[in-house]
Amino acid sequence: MGILGFLKSTVLSKFVMAITGIILVLFILGHLIGNLQIFIGKDVYNTYAHFLQSLGEILWIIRIVLIISVILHIITSVYLKFLNLSARPVNYKFRKYVQAKLTSRTMIWTGIMILAFVIYHLLHFTIGVADPEIYGHKDYYERNAEFVIADNQGEIIHDAGKFSIVQGSKVLFERHDVYRMVVLGFRKPLVSIFYIIGMIILGFHLNHAIQSMIQTIGISGPQFTKCMTKLSSVLSFLIALGYISIPVLIMLNVVGGDV
Ligand code: HEM
Repeated sequence: MGILGFLKSTVLSKFVMAITGIILVLFILGHLIGNLQIFIGKDVYNTYAHFLQSLGEILWIIRIVLIISVILHIITSVYLKFLNLSARPVNYKFRKYVQAKLTSRTMIWTGIMILAFVIYHLLHFTIGVADPEIYGHKDYYERNAEFVIADNQGEIIHDAGKFSIVQGSKVLFERHDVYRMVVLGFRKPLVSIFYIIGMIILGFHLNHAIQSMIQTIGISGPQFTKCMTKLSSVLSFLIALGYISIPVLIMLNVVGGDV
């Protein structure tokens, strides 16, 4: 059975939606925890970003898994939408959305908006073409030079990482100043507002998504469903709030005053 044949089964499509959804939610949670470190300070945040960059092949494996998840998530959602529409070819005269909540009816639209947001976000912070003047600044940080072998002139002849200048027993290493990029990026009110709207939409999408995932995996029961509905609302609210706090606190100059 080809991939389309495989996805043609509704049950399997829902399962694919749930599994890819879980992978994407895990990324969103991990990315949030990583980015909240901006509140600890520049060194911690840049160390985290540099660690991710230095993962090399592992980073590419994570990226490929994410890209495949996004593609499968989109294909199955469009397929399920068409299936749903073709199940009732004649449009209802009066649309009665008795059970379907606003968030569940708008999943495909909030999904498209999140995709547009992520494309802009990649051009902004990962590729650096949306706002080139904030991108590519270097951060020089000092570490002990124990593992660096230098000749008499202090010229480094071997080391275990990237370096630029030797200063006595210390070495100044060089890395991308992601902290500066994010602070300068969010000091622009229009950019911050765009992000805030994007992350509110993400919150709505997640609210329904987390509930559906739990249902698809097969755990149910009236009491449990009620509890899970609350849990997914709280979780999606906290995720959106966590992300939104970053541009808001930068605009208020609570964070990034040192840039
Ligand atoms: C305030 C909110 C956010 C901040 C400050 C932020 C920050 C960043 C930064 C700095 C990078 C680039 C890392 C690097 O190349 O060194 C990045 C990459 C990325 N972000 Fe975000 N992000 C935010 C929200 C989001 C949201 C809501 C999503 C998803 C819905 C997201 C998805 C991604 C993805 C997919 C990448 C590319 C990862 C990679 O392949 O390296 N981000 N983000």
